[in-house]
This record gives sequence, structure tokens and C-alpha cells, in this order.
Amino acid sequence: MSECRPHELMNFPEGQAFTIAHLSDLHATDVRLGSPRDVLGKRALGWLSWRHRRRHEHQASVLRALIADLHQRAPDHIAITGDLTHLGLPSEIAAATNWLERIGPAEQVSVVPGNHDAYAGAEGAERWLPWRHYMGDLAGPPADADDADADARGFPWIRRIGGHIALIGISSARPTAPLLATGRVGARQRARVEALLATLAAEGRVRIVLLHHPPVAAGQSRRRQLDDAAEVRALLTRAGAELLLHGHTHECHEGVVRGPHGPIPVLGVASSSSAGPRPARRARYRLVRIVPERATDGTPRCRISWQLRGFDAATGGFVAETEEPALAHSAG
Ligand SMILES: [Fe+2]
Repeated sequence: MSECRPHELMNFPEGQAFTIAHLSDLHATDVRLGSPRDVLGKRALGWLSWRHRRRHEHQASVLRALIADLHQRAPDHIAITGDLTHLGLPSEIAAATNWLERIGPAEQVSVVPGNHDAYAGAEGAERWLPWRHYMGDLAGPPADADDADADARGFPWIRRIGGHIALIGISSARPTAPLLATGRVGARQRARVEALLATLAAEGRVRIVLLHHPPVAAGQSRRRQLDDAAEVRALLTRAGAELLLHGHTHECHEGVVRGPHGPIPVLGVASSSSAGPRPARRARYRLVRIVPERATDGTPRCRISWQLRGFDAATGGFVAETEEPALAHSAG
């Protein structure tokens, strides 16, 4: 359990929990090639990887079990931190949209893209237009339409939920050279994120940040890193946030970034569709619960706890692996 202390919590209804399910790296699509152009350049290697390994690891049966479990748990919101596809082909973006529709209504499901969703090509953020309903409102200023950084155009997005919660969706998804799976937020998007976090703090909201690549060391190699992780951590240290959720590593991870009032919890989740043999990479998702309360001195704060739910091959369903374990740090 982690304690967070936003700047103000005047909007936060004391005692009323908000539950968010965090999924990631669904790789939910089959790669159906329309023409040889689909596997030019980097996509040729990606197609081989999908053909020989990934299509066996990420299975539709696990996704169906995941959706059934989500419907049973009925969280208030579902956050998906990227890599819904393998090669980011338009046909895969469309197929992933079908999965999103099965997961839940657009107002209860939020998405940020991952590096696989931006695998190659020069389409920029336009490629994710079919997911726009799952991305909240554009947060950038009007001039953002002229942003030369086409991959970050329209990001971050923001979703205000009720009077006390805000989700901020950051894109770190960029096309990269072969054998690289790096990400970058970019200077202009970072500036927009920082301004937004300050605005939301003034509104007294609990700020939950979604980002595909981890901004902390979470077992990723240099060729899979967030290139401007140090700058992202620095902006979080200045502006604060109550929670950051990420994916990308295909393993669960719990870390922190220093915030202005204490550590900010950084939670990574494994791929939520993996049926691979390695136990650490078995399909999981995380149910995160945020409860408002008051410290003994009357200071408003919120308590963050979670349950990991993992795929159980014996029953073909998802089961609880943990019961709201505690983190001994506070955030804000
Ligand atoms: Fe990734």
C-alpha cells in the first residue's frame, strides 16, 4: 500500500474508492500481410519474430479470459499502456480497435500507444485515429497542430473522471531502427505534460499518468529504454503526480520517482496476454485501488493499494496472485 498526498484534495470524496485495472502489451492482433510493402525494412524482422515466437506467446484465448475477468471485477476504469499490435500495420490498428470494443465502452477504457504500435512508417500520431475515442481529450494548445514532432502530436491526452481523478496519457511511441525498441516523450510533449500536471494539481485531482516505456530502471536494456527518461523523471519531480503506470518490459515492476512531496509510485505490469512458459512473464494485470482518507493530523491524502491477477493455465481463467500488498513510501 502506498500513501499519496496531492497538493489539494478538496474534490476527493473521503472513503470512496476508485479502482483502475491496468493492462499492457496485449499484442492482440494477427499479422495479415496485404502486400509485400507491409514487410519492408524493419517490419521484415518484426514479421519473422511474430511468425516464429510472438504469435505463439500472445494468445486470443488468454485475451478472452482477461476480458471475462475484467467484466466480473467491474473496475471503474481500464488503462492499457500500449503495444496492442505487433507491427503497427493499419490492419492491426483496426483489429486492436475491435478488441478495445470488447474490453469496454470508450469512456471507461483508456489507451496510450507503445513502440510496436509505431513500429515503422511516417504516419505520425495519425495512425492511431481509430483509437481516438479511447484517448480522452487533446491537451495540447491549438498550435500543437503545427508541432513538427508528428509522433507526439495530440499528446498528452487528458481524461477528467468525476471531480477528483485525472488520467494523463503520454506517448513514448516512435518508429525506431531495426533491433531497437526505444521510446521518447520529446521536449514539447514534456512541456505540455508539466503544465497539465500543475493545472490538475490546482484542481485538487489525483493524477494518474499512463506511459508505455518505464521512466525508471525496470530491467530494460539500453536498446529498449526511454531515451529521455531523466528529463521525464525531472518533470515529475517538479510537477508531481500521484501514480504512474507503465508497460513495455513484459514483467511486473514496482518503483518510485521522487516527487515534490515524497515518492511517486511507478507500477509496471507484465503482458496481459502472454501464455509463454516463463513464470515471470505470464499474463497479468493489476487492479489498483485509490482510497481517500485523512492522516492523523487531518491532512487529506489518498491510499493506493493493488491486487495482481494472473492467468492460470489449469483453469483457463485469471486468479488473484496477491492481496493488496503494501509499499512503504508516500507520493505526491
Ligand atoms: Fe513495448
